[in-house]
Amino acid sequence: MGKVFAVTSGKGGVGKSSFSSGLACAFAPSKSVLLVDMDAGLRCLDLMLGVSEELVFDLSDVLLGKPLEDSVCTVKDKKFKTFHLLAAPTDTNKIDIFSFAAFAKEVADQYDIVIFDFPAGVDFSLAAALPKDTMHLIVVNPDVVCIRDAAGVGERIAEFSDNIRMILNKFNFKLVRNGVYKNIDDSIDKTGIQLAGIVPFCEHLACAVAVGRPVNKGRAFKALKRISRRLDGEKVRLPKPKKI
Ligand SMILES: Nc1ncnc2c1ncn2[C@@H]1O[C@H](COP(=O)(O)OP(=O)(O)OP(=O)(O)O)[C@@H](O)[C@H]1O
Ligand SMILES: [Mg+2]
Repeated sequence: MGKVFAVTSGKGGVGKSSFSSGLACAFAPSKSVLLVDMDAGLRCLDLMLGVSEELVFDLSDVLLGKPLEDSVCTVKDKKFKTFHLLAAPTDTNKIDIFSFAAFAKEVADQYDIVIFDFPAGVDFSLAAALPKDTMHLIVVNPDVVCIRDAAGVGERIAEFSDNIRMILNKFNFKLVRNGVYKNIDDSIDKTGIQLAGIVPFCEHLACAVAVGRPVNKGRAFKALKRISRRLDGEKVRLPKPKKI
């Protein structure tokens, strides 16, 4: 069975979709990857990865019986093994939890890595339906509002899983040094969530998702590569904050 990751947050706009697409790009040269956009009505990953022209079917079609292989878009790069994207439904009709749970189990058997990019908020009913060993990655920016929201999200997810990690995104050492942003220890203490990685604020990542190109360079990508190795079970140390 492949590894399943659920990317969530309390506050919106923290970089879940940028992180999910970047993490998928970091895994894709060595693993088969399925990225699932869970933001029904507000999908974005097809645009961020430049495959919206290819898009015909989405998650709701697959849950109604459309074969997965006819419904995914392929994100192309000569370095990638397999990188498939399944788009979110355009409407916000409720997704059936039982068919979704069955789908998640099935794709975990087909791919090395499956990443579900959830919308922000407080509804975790679909995240709770994912396979038991799913790792829940809460994306947090190191500001006070975001950290308080993340602590709340961590408590909600802890009701159904103890496999929870935090990703600090848009990390900016200068703002931490000036006391504007919380430092790493404070972020961990205030959320009570184990840290899985730190992604710096990075123009390369912002540009890649804005123009619809898989990210392949820059400081954020370097961090995402390290995170992908850590999430795959390798012992990869966290870099010193000023080097992130
Ligand atoms: N590490 C980063 N460095 C610089 N910009 C970033 C980084 N991560 C995300 N961004 C920028 O932040 C904005 C929001 O990102 P994104 O859409 O990924 O957030 P989100 O959490 O998925 O939002 P939503 O809650 O609406 O789903 C985008 O403009 C993106 O380019
Ligand atoms: Mg998003």
